[in-house]
Amino acid sequence: MVARASVAAPDHPPVFSLRGVGVRYGLVQALQGVNLTVAPGERVALIGANGCGKSTLLRVLHGLAKPSSGQLLRGEGSRQAMLFQRPHMLRASAQHNVALGLWLHGVRWRDARAQSLQALQRVGLEGIAAQNARTLSGGQQQRVALARAWALRPDVLLLDEPTASLDPHAKREVELLMADLAASHGQAGPGHPVTMVFSSHNLGQVKRLASRVIYLEHGAVLADLPVHDFFNGPLPDAARLFVKGEMV
Ligand SMILES: Nc1ncnc2c1ncn2[C@@H]1O[C@H](COP(=O)(O)OP(=O)(O)OP(=O)(O)O)[C@@H](O)[C@H]1O
Ligand SMILES: [Mg+2]
Repeated sequence: MVARASVAAPDHPPVFSLRGVGVRYGLVQALQGVNLTVAPGERVALIGANGCGKSTLLRVLHGLAKPSSGQLLRGEGSRQAMLFQRPHMLRASAQHNVALGLWLHGVRWRDARAQSLQALQRVGLEGIAAQNARTLSGGQQQRVALARAWALRPDVLLLDEPTASLDPHAKREVELLMADLAASHGQAGPGHPVTMVFSSHNLGQVKRLASRVIYLEHGAVLADLPVHDFFNGPLPDAARLFVKGEMV
């Protein structure tokens, strides 16, 4: 394992702290011995081959998968939102789908509807606000899901392959939105930058958006480095070969 990641300053408690976290599904060890501390404002990319544990790690961070071993501590009081690899849409309009997320967080329905329209505008989908979300294309659904996450003004944003099924134009738009989000602040207000953890198979995107890269293999962290070091420094063989393979 190579690691040279930032350590949270004492006056900024970590957003996440994982010690020896493992997740087992029957015979499959989806994560093993994961040690990870994420400081506020970091933009962490999770990379690695299919099945290496990226989605599982994101689900653990969001509290949706319980570690079978080890310890997970989450910072208190921050609002988290997660964008799933396959977004779930309710059989209702796109606007309703976004508004419901806000309403569930205590926003009055009237305000939720207005804010959801703004969020759809932000992802360039105001034109389909009234369309049944289940009838939208995969890429459109992904952008509605991003609007749903963005509308919550989260302090911590978890994104599982946010641009995987998007065309180049939409990909660029979503990346700009992610960069925008990362540069903004969430519920906690100014001085509390948004923390972002995302998985991606697009190494160009990782270079553009991440401050830190974590390479996973068979559920274990093999490299954890600042983005510049990851792409310019020595890497363990497996990670180096993966990067080379993804670049061709
Ligand atoms: N609910 C589950 N039940 C059983 N096995 C699971 C479950 N979720 C994940 N796994 C297994 O855990 C391993 C890690 O899966 P995970 O979805 O985290 O990988 P990933 O890195 O996100 O892959 P991809 O790049 O394909 O999205 C895989 O072997 C997968 O089959
Ligand atoms: Mg996945």
